[in-house]
Amino acid sequence: MKILITGSNGMLGHDLIEVFHEDNVLINTTSKTLDITNRDDVINFIGKEKPDVVINSAAYTNVDDCETNQEMAYAVNGDGVKNLALACKETDSVLVHISTDYVFKGDKDTPRLENDELGPMSIYGKSKLKGEEAILSILDKYFIIRTAWLYGCNGGNFPKTMLELAKEHDTLTVVYDEVGSPTYTLDLAKAISELIKTDNYGIYHVTNSDSCSWFEFAKLIFELADVDVEVTPVTAKEFARPAPRPSYSVLDNRKWVENGFEPLRSYKDAIKDYIDILNGGI
Ligand SMILES: NC(=O)c1ccc[n+]([C@@H]2O[C@H](COP(=O)([O-])OP(=O)(O)OC[C@H]3O[C@@H](n4cnc5c(N)ncnc54)[C@H](OP(=O)(O)O)[C@@H]3O)[C@@H](O)[C@H]2O)c1
Repeated sequence: MKILITGSNGMLGHDLIEVFHEDNVLINTTSKTLDITNRDDVINFIGKEKPDVVINSAAYTNVDDCETNQEMAYAVNGDGVKNLALACKETDSVLVHISTDYVFKGDKDTPRLENDELGPMSIYGKSKLKGEEAILSILDKYFIIRTAWLYGCNGGNFPKTMLELAKEHDTLTVVYDEVGSPTYTLDLAKAISELIKTDNYGIYHVTNSDSCSWFEFAKLIFELADVDVEVTPVTAKEFARPAPRPSYSVLDNRKWVENGFEPLRSYKDAIKDYIDILNGGI
């Protein structure tokens, strides 16, 4: 297949290349080679390349900065996605778009299904929802994949931040009243490679299995990395950040399984592999 990847310098983009490069013709684009906010460029570029599939892993992902740079958040996460959808419509390409658990309000304590009520709390979540809405209004051939709490080898993320902080502090405070499913970008990229072999288009929730709080996740990271640091639980309110976050944003992967795919492994197994790679690789 001919596959165009946007955001290929990013954390997920990196692992998409890793998973897809052997069996496919890849066109890897970055914000420099294809700025998704420029409609003419997007339509011309995709019109010229005519990929079978476009995977959009480009986004403005700094959740707190989105609160202050709202225009940029909507330009990239909303209009940028609309541009890709319009281009895919013209070339009849399948659009795979990555969305987020932050489109939910997260005030319920049961895992969310694809068609549950939405209610983003932050500008990031609202802008990502705009992107979803654009796709739904323009395309029939799309996969919208909502995922959560990503970490991978290429980029900053929670496990790396924890391990860095532990080098300088004996005690760390970590939020215990936000619960989600940490997801390894390599596992997600492999899941996407399975999904695009089908034409079961639609919205899917795809995360590693099982869930935890940030506090529990931090404790597990330190245990696996054999790092001795005291972790103190705090509330999200005590650990104030510019953007509000859902307190419970576990995504139910039932539709994924009902469509014949294997559940992704537990986040506990995935983080173990990741820590092993970090220990051997950096
Ligand atoms: N990180 C998470 O915890 C998380 C959770 C749920 C969902 N998601 C979603 O998963 C996807 C991948 O996330 P990630 O963490 O891998 O993101 P990331 O590492 O921040 O990478 C995003 C990439 O988007 C590119 N980009 C930004 N603005 C662009 C523009 N105008 N045109 C083209 N490219 C642009 C950047 O490219 P350059 O480097 O070339 O500037 C960056 O490399 C995103 O859609 C995100 O919303 C992430």
